[in-house]
Parts: sequence; structure tokens; C-alpha cells
Amino acid sequence: MRPTPAALSPPEMIDAGRGLTALITGASAGIGAALARTYAEKGWDLVLTARRAGPLEALAQTLRRDHGIEVSVIPADLAEPDASAGLVEAMAAQGLTIDALVNNAGFSRTTGFLATDPADHAAMVRVMLSAPIELSRLLIPGMVERGFGRVLNVASLAGLMPATGGDTLYGPIKGFLIKASAGLHLELQGMGVHVTALCPGYTLTEFHDVNGSRDQVSSAYPAWMWQTADHVARVGYAAVEANRARVVPGWRNTLLAAIPKLLPDAVALKIIGGHARRLKRI
Ligand SMILES: NC(=O)c1ccc[n+]([C@@H]2O[C@H](COP(=O)([O-])OP(=O)(O)OC[C@H]3O[C@@H](n4cnc5c(N)ncnc54)[C@H](OP(=O)(O)O)[C@@H]3O)[C@@H](O)[C@H]2O)c1
Repeated sequence: MRPTPAALSPPEMIDAGRGLTALITGASAGIGAALARTYAEKGWDLVLTARRAGPLEALAQTLRRDHGIEVSVIPADLAEPDASAGLVEAMAAQGLTIDALVNNAGFSRTTGFLATDPADHAAMVRVMLSAPIELSRLLIPGMVERGFGRVLNVASLAGLMPATGGDTLYGPIKGFLIKASAGLHLELQGMGVHVTALCPGYTLTEFHDVNGSRDQVSSAYPAWMWQTADHVARVGYAAVEANRARVVPGWRNTLLAAIPKLLPDAVALKIIGGHARRLKRI
């Protein structure tokens, strides 16, 4: 028998004294930290995770002070095979119930497939694919049982675009996440659990510093192509509350995602391939 979905919205539940807790991965920087601020503004308690404990603790302190919410910090390296299970165990040991899972942690390598360390390839797959799947499988059953849950998967516009060379695995990994999110979104309809893929375009975070492409992308792409992490986070939060399968922040990015679908595949691939060459990735 299907459980009855919760009749109240998150603000109504929080006002009624039913605290809600969101787990946010990759919360030490960028979009993850912005999502933590967005959830905190809405009154959610939080569990923040990433590898760097320092920035997580600093963010947790600010959010506790500014919003009077409970914030737990559990550092974890999601590239480690047992990380998801360890994280879920650590939360259970603290008596935490997770009502929203935000799979946000991620990074890319733009050095080209053959020049990238195989360990980095494995870490990309683990952090951006395996961990979201494992955390979903571990945490969604409880959400279904309680008739309330939210899963926000931070994918990318790259997952909706033709393939690019140079960061060869990144787009396909995000494409997988978008399609898996859509499947789960359908599977959980009517159970009170919303699943959404958030597909941002270029966003001002540490992402392009970490992959070493800051100078290239800053000179290649004009200011209008860049969005702030706070804007992306607000769009993602609204979309998962509205139970949308997928959201692309901004009309320009929505248009960019639509154009290749109107072109023959070979033409779209050539145009996007040229883009990777302009960035001197291949
Ligand atoms: N910025 C963009 O233009 C853009 C566009 C579309 C999609 N995205 C996606 O948005 C998400 C967030 O990226 P961002 O732009 O906010 O980048 P960011 O500022 O570099 O933040 C990435 C976050 O992921 C965490 N992370 C990386 N590797 C990890 C690991 N092995 N284990 C645990 N956490 C790890 C980092 O924390 P630690 O280093 O402390 O571990 C950090 O908190 C990613 O999934 C990215 O693919 C970004």
C-alpha cells in the first residue's frame, strides 16, 4: 500500500514544530554552500558534508547564529567507496532523520581523457554518480515511509549538451544523473517524495579554480553567461518544491540547452567540439 503523502508544505511543517533536516554534499564551497544558506533561510536543519572541515564548520556557525537552526558537520571524502554508507551510519548514530538529500558535490578535469590520472576518473564517477545513487538508495526508503522527502541532484547544463572533448567524462556523468533523476521522479510520484535535477550553466564558484580553467573560461565567456551560486540555489530549491523533474536556471541557459536539439547531431557535435578547441582543451 502506498503511504499517504504529507499534507503540509515544508514551511507549514516547520511552523507546526515538525523539524526538517537536509543533507547537503559539497557544502564547503560554491553552489553547495549557497544551497545550505537557502535551506537555512527556509528554516531547515542541516547536515553539511565535504572533505574540508574548516569551511563547513565556519558555515555551520554562521547559519546557526543567523537562523537559529541545528547544523551538524560530518566531513567525508565521497570518492572513498564506503563514504555514503559511513555518512548514513554517522547520521543515524546522531539520531538524525534526513528529509531532503542534496547531491551536489562535484568537480571536473579538463586535461583530456588520456592525460588525466585514472584515479581522478574513478573519483569523478564515485563523487558525482555512485555517491548520489547510494545515498538515494539508503535515504529514500525512509522518506517514502514518512510520506515526505526531497532529492535535489545538482547536475549541469553540460549533461543536456552534445559531448565535448577535453572534459570528456563530465557531460556524460551529468547526463546520467539527469536521466536517473527523471526516472526516480516518475517512480516516486504520489508518495510525497520530489526528485529534481538542477542543471546550472556557468556559475561563479571555486569549480573552475579547482580544474585550473579559470583564465580560459573567464576570457572565453562574457559576464552575461555567468550566474551566482545563490541564484542557482534558489532556483533549485523552488524547482524541487514544485516537484519538477528538471530545471535549468535562466532563460539563456534554457535556450542553449534547446538549440542543439534542433540541429542534426553531427552539426551540434561539430559546433560544441569547436568550443572545446577554443578553450585549448584538445
Ligand atoms: N560552477 C559551475 O559552473 C557549475 C556548472 C554546472 C554544474 N556545476 C555542478 O555544481 C556542483 C557544485 O560545484 P561548484 O560549482 O559549487 O564547485 P566548487 O565551488 O568547487 O564546490 C565543489 C564542492 O564539492 C566538494 N567535493 C569535491 N570533491 C569531493 C569529494 N571527493 N568528496 C566530498 N566532497 C567533494 C567540495 O568540497 P571539498 O573540496 O571540501 O571536498 C566542494 O564543497 C558540482 O556537482 C558541479 O559539477 C557547477
